Amino acid sequence: MNKLTDTFKLNNGIDIPCIGYGTFQTPDGKSVEDGVKEALKIGYRHIDTAYFYQNEKGVGKAIRESGIKREDIFVTSKLWNSDRGYESAKAAFEKTMDNLGLEYLDLFLIHWPAIKKQFDNAEEINAETWKAFEEIYETGRVKAIGLSNFLPHHIDELMKTAKIKPMVNQIEFHPGFAQIETAKYCLENDIVVEAWSPLGRKEVLENETLVELAKKYNKSTAQICIRWVLQHDILPLPKSVTPSRILENSQVFDFEISEDDMKTIDNIPCCGGQCANPDDVNF
Ligand SMILES: NC(=O)c1ccc[n+]([C@@H]2O[C@H](COP(=O)([O-])OP(=O)(O)OC[C@H]3O[C@@H](n4cnc5c(N)ncnc54)[C@H](OP(=O)(O)O)[C@@H]3O)[C@@H](O)[C@H]2O)c1
Repeated sequence: MNKLTDTFKLNNGIDIPCIGYGTFQTPDGKSVEDGVKEALKIGYRHIDTAYFYQNEKGVGKAIRESGIKREDIFVTSKLWNSDRGYESAKAAFEKTMDNLGLEYLDLFLIHWPAIKKQFDNAEEINAETWKAFEEIYETGRVKAIGLSNFLPHHIDELMKTAKIKPMVNQIEFHPGFAQIETAKYCLENDIVVEAWSPLGRKEVLENETLVELAKKYNKSTAQICIRWVLQHDILPLPKSVTPSRILENSQVFDFEISEDDMKTIDNIPCCGGQCANPDDVNF
């Protein structure tokens, strides 16, 4: 990857720009509109939102007003947990499309798997949700479909009934919480991995090992995190509402982390972020 518009290829042939602009916790209205517009001005062409973030309206407005052709921007949204199931997922897709005010979506993800801790029939719920996703995909209104926070065993279960293989799995992935096994499983199965909280919600940026490496490469700790994700062949989704940081997070193509330093970062102990086990959440 040499620039923001370079792409990963999904298993259905669709290109997805290699860094996405995250919008979790950015309020709807001016905040998210300004953030998305700034990101697009800098050159980001991939925006990540979700129904749960309650900012799809602002994201869609900023995209529509950007003056950039719709086909040049990759837009992701996600189905929230209360909307799982065949009928509910279809209805939720319509709500998302109404909010965004766009003709089509590039990528729609199941935000979190239904889990056995909460549902006796978790596997069946995920299968039903996925069936709805497949049918929406077949209408052409979404260019790709995928998962988020699915562990390998959730994907194996899903594949028992799936007709279409997921194209993406978006997982928490940052120094101190590199879900290497899940990432490896996805990459081996031709599923693109996206890294949420690539900066560990900012907390990992204070880590001493990262601070030392940042000095060594003459970069910021945020840039080290984003570059480290990319060098794992994973697509980072950094979030910022601060123009200087939105720019900084895009300037990661003029250096390379050595193999030894990659291993050092892989082994950083937990130092921030949500560090969620998808099989053990309460939402
Ligand atoms: N699928 C999922 O379940 C899931 C879960 C969480 C997140 N996500 C996606 O992943 C995206 C990123 O994750 P995240 O928002 O949790 O966290 P993140 O990107 O790891 O961290 C965001 C925090 O870091 C700060 N920051 C950004 N760039 C910085 C820099 N260069 N220097 C210093 N601080 C910096 C931001 O502050 P300012 O904004 O104030 O600049 C914000 O406080 C989300 O926005 C969302 O799109 C998905």
